[in-house]
Amino acid sequence: MAAQPPGMTDRLLGAMATSAARRYGLERVSELAHALQCAELARGAGADDELILACLLHDVGRFAVDQALIFDRVGGAGGHRHHGARGHHEVGADLIAPYVSERVTWLVRIHADAKRYLCSTAPGYHATLSPASQHTMTLQGGLMSPDEVARHAAHPWFGAALRLRRWDDQAKVIGKETAPLAAWEPLLRARFR
Ligand SMILES: [Fe+2]
Repeated sequence: MAAQPPGMTDRLLGAMATSAARRYGLERVSELAHALQCAELARGAGADDELILACLLHDVGRFAVDQALIFDRVGGAGGHRHHGARGHHEVGADLIAPYVSERVTWLVRIHADAKRYLCSTAPGYHATLSPASQHTMTLQGGLMSPDEVARHAAHPWFGAALRLRRWDDQAKVIGKETAPLAAWEPLLRARFR
């Protein structure tokens, strides 16, 4: 049985609370508001706890780690890719991997690819994305080949990944009322081990 480093859930909650002061990329909502809106959309749609948790944490790589490690952000180093920098989805997934289920980690890791998939397969989807999200899609690899599309579509968890992605895209409403971060604390404490 792996011992849990003390206070990881508290550190995560602290990072999320602090992210209320951080703008979500070029969007006009904060990182925290975005996470809360995304999780609430998932719960409202009847998603299971793992999927809700993935929605809450999907962008943790955007605010809980050193952003010099992240290349797929707007207004970063002017397109210069810091040596060793990786996507926020990869860094975020690695951060939470020791503490959550494999499916939650996978859903966080795949959320940029889910956007690439939808851009490649869903007519009109690309046009619905914000300019910032369109820009990072290019940084994250652009459109998928037919092979890549088929490989992703065959994954048993990919349906959940697409649901997360749609809520992610919708979770940018300025001034939308949501439950506070504290409302998710029981779920975090129950699922974060
Ligand atoms: Fe997001």
